[in-house]
Amino acid sequence: MVLIIATHNKNKVNEIKAILGGKFDKIVSADEIGLTAQAEETGTTFYQNALIKASDLLSQIKNNPEISKEIGDYAVLSDDSGICVNALFGAPGVNSNRFFIKGDDKANRIHMLEVLKDNVNRKAHFESCVVLLYSDGKITSQIGITEGEILQEEKGSGGFGYDCIFYSYDINKSFGEATAQEKNAVSHRARALNNLLKII
Ligand code: IMP
Repeated sequence: MVLIIATHNKNKVNEIKAILGGKFDKIVSADEIGLTAQAEETGTTFYQNALIKASDLLSQIKNNPEISKEIGDYAVLSDDSGICVNALFGAPGVNSNRFFIKGDDKANRIHMLEVLKDNVNRKAHFESCVVLLYSDGKITSQIGITEGEILQEEKGSGGFGYDCIFYSYDINKSFGEATAQEKNAVSHRARALNNLLKII
């Protein structure tokens, strides 16, 4: 079976391929099969947004006979994720990608550091909800969480999004300082995907 990933974020695609690689005959992103349209994330929960992205990609594939014929048996996978900060009552959560400027990771990180300023309560967690949607409409989903805190300044230059301001309690360093393998061992998305692997 071919797995088609409903994300345009290359970092997420690499993380997902690294974890689910052995389970599917082939894993490709929507971009790689020429489907570049993005669904608007209008949900208020990670699950709702993940389902919106997966359903949208499924209908794009079904409405494109050439692609459906070429890929054969397939399922689509989406992830919706974000960072939830205790002192901000769980924000930015589903709005993580647009906390300050939509799609501008650097601006969003700077905004986070400014909003928290000298706040001593810096506890936060990343959450990911993954949805696996089969071509017959069957849905499976799982979540994963990873705990840590927001640093006072950026540390490391790896990863994406909030990685270099997130100190992970699991690996005792920022995700920005972690190798891909170190992050994949404990990340919210890896945990959600590993939970999914147990039930498919
Ligand atoms: P999504 O593409 O709507 O799921 O947005 C996810 C946003 O949450 C990203 O743009 C990042 O800002 C943040 N995010 C999610 N997962 C991670 C991660 O693993 N590291 C850093 N930031 C993340």
